[in-house]
Amino acid sequence: MPGDKSISHRYAMLAVLAPGQSRLENFAPGADCASTLECMRKLGCTVGRDSDGSVVLGGIGPQLKSPSEALDCGNSGSTMRMLSGILAAQSFNSELIGDASLSNRPMKRIIEPLSQMGAKIESVDGHAPLRISGGHLRGITYRPPVPSAQVKTCLLFAGLLADGTMTVEEMHPTRDHGEVALRAFGAQLERSRNTVSIRGGQALKPLEAYVPGDSSSAAFFLCAAAIFPESNLVLDGVLLNPTRSALLDVLAAMGCRISMIRVEEQHGELVGTIALVPGTGKHVVIAGAQTALLIDELPVLAAIAPYTAGGIEVRDAAELRVKESDRLSAVTRNLQAMGAQVEQTEDGWRIPGNQKLHGAEIESYHDHRIAMAFAIAALRAEGETVIHNAECVAISYPAFFEDLERVVER
Ligand code: S3P
Repeated sequence: MPGDKSISHRYAMLAVLAPGQSRLENFAPGADCASTLECMRKLGCTVGRDSDGSVVLGGIGPQLKSPSEALDCGNSGSTMRMLSGILAAQSFNSELIGDASLSNRPMKRIIEPLSQMGAKIESVDGHAPLRISGGHLRGITYRPPVPSAQVKTCLLFAGLLADGTMTVEEMHPTRDHGEVALRAFGAQLERSRNTVSIRGGQALKPLEAYVPGDSSSAAFFLCAAAIFPESNLVLDGVLLNPTRSALLDVLAAMGCRISMIRVEEQHGELVGTIALVPGTGKHVVIAGAQTALLIDELPVLAAIAPYTAGGIEVRDAAELRVKESDRLSAVTRNLQAMGAQVEQTEDGWRIPGNQKLHGAEIESYHDHRIAMAFAIAALRAEGETVIHNAECVAISYPAFFEDLERVVER
């Protein structure tokens, strides 16, 4: 699996704050993490590659260089939201811009708490471009109204550079790569249940690490294997962080047999080999805290739902409407185009099982996870499927179609 996108963004951002050379092997190959690297370069960090493709970053320390132009986050919400936490604490002004999709995504969720910490951020009614007048920040206690690991990480990064202590209290736990990565770079954090605190002013040290395989990319193959009774899939070197592996619980609840072999810890992240034997007999309902942990895997789960015996219901997923596309509508329209019965609710779907789908013209809505989810749905549909604008898979997984060809038996 290509390197995990969430971890790659965080490692790259922390590497610039850690004076000295960091070396990141298996760095995520997609355009989103390339946007982060380009922003790091504009902030004064040297960014290179060594012979095995590892990303080598020359970190500066907590005070970065003033960029001479706007920082382009491309399609990447993670870049814009998490980097804002670092920029808010700098002694210069900066501007963050993004593509049409990113410019439509909500940014009030970081503007509000960063402003409470003392930052000045101008936006277009809560959307990019963001103009950040960097300065002195102070730690606060904040409870994000929507569960979001990007927001939590943004605030922990800001807290690292602030006076006092920053505390984030989550209503539902989200992925903890921000916390794990900060520790890997030498910071100390305190955690209890859903609360995490960081003391400002701590110095970071550089990191040499292998980025574990992306579990949200692995999800496409696991879901594909789940709907083919004859399949037998083994995936090596996959991230098994419990805040990212809820899909395995869902697939197991559906009836798949899943084993994890050779699990080890690398810089606080669990990595291992997953083997899956299919089975899709039982109806599953995904709601509440589980929805938050599965947020990136829901499109592909919905895309395979009609082929399962029990069907799938998803609740509490309104957040999917403000991802790279409105993923609730995108999935519904594409499933309907394939002849599926699907009920879209305000915050989820009800998708009955045991359906037969036909090939169709699919619209990716320029959203990588929609294109990949429907490549998986297409595998079991009768007839040919055409996915428009499928090149958007390059946002997170440029080699997706080649890798899919390798595991599909003709
Ligand atoms: C991410 C968090 C999630 C996820 C995104 C990556 C991260 O977004 O959808 O793909 O790396 O923290 P939210 O924080 O908006 O839930």
